Amino acid sequence: MSQIIEYSEKVMDHFSNPRNVGEIENPSGVGTVGNAKCGDIMRIYLDIDENQIIRDCKFKTFGCGAAVATSSIATEMIKGKSVEDALKLTNQAVQEALGGLPPVKVHCSLLAEEAVHAALWDYAQKNNLQIEGLNPPVDDIEDL
Ligand code: FES
Repeated sequence: MSQIIEYSEKVMDHFSNPRNVGEIENPSGVGTVGNAKCGDIMRIYLDIDENQIIRDCKFKTFGCGAAVATSSIATEMIKGKSVEDALKLTNQAVQEALGGLPPVKVHCSLLAEEAVHAALWDYAQKNNLQIEGLNPPVDDIEDL
């Protein structure tokens, strides 16, 4: 028998009314990650100024409701932050900000963390920067 998954109000809010949906033209960095198991894909675009502050951040997610909600809150959490602080975004922090996720949906928040890291990696590559703690991204979070 299938079980009904319960979501927090915050998840439902970010799923029904996602923030920062869209694309950025000529982004400073863009990162795409997926999960081969569920087939969901998340793409994050960053606009970063000369002081390494994230001026703008948008996302496109082809995936489940939890993936949309985690992308939405992740973009809100890193907007206005420095590259260094954005790098510290963890999937645990994303889950906490959403008031928790059901266990079967935890991997959706990992997609958000990885998509941010992938976009930061792209930014670092384009600008020839070495950013401490930033590692090459994976395409599929199942490889983590
Ligand atoms: Fe895979 Fe949500 S079910 S990202």
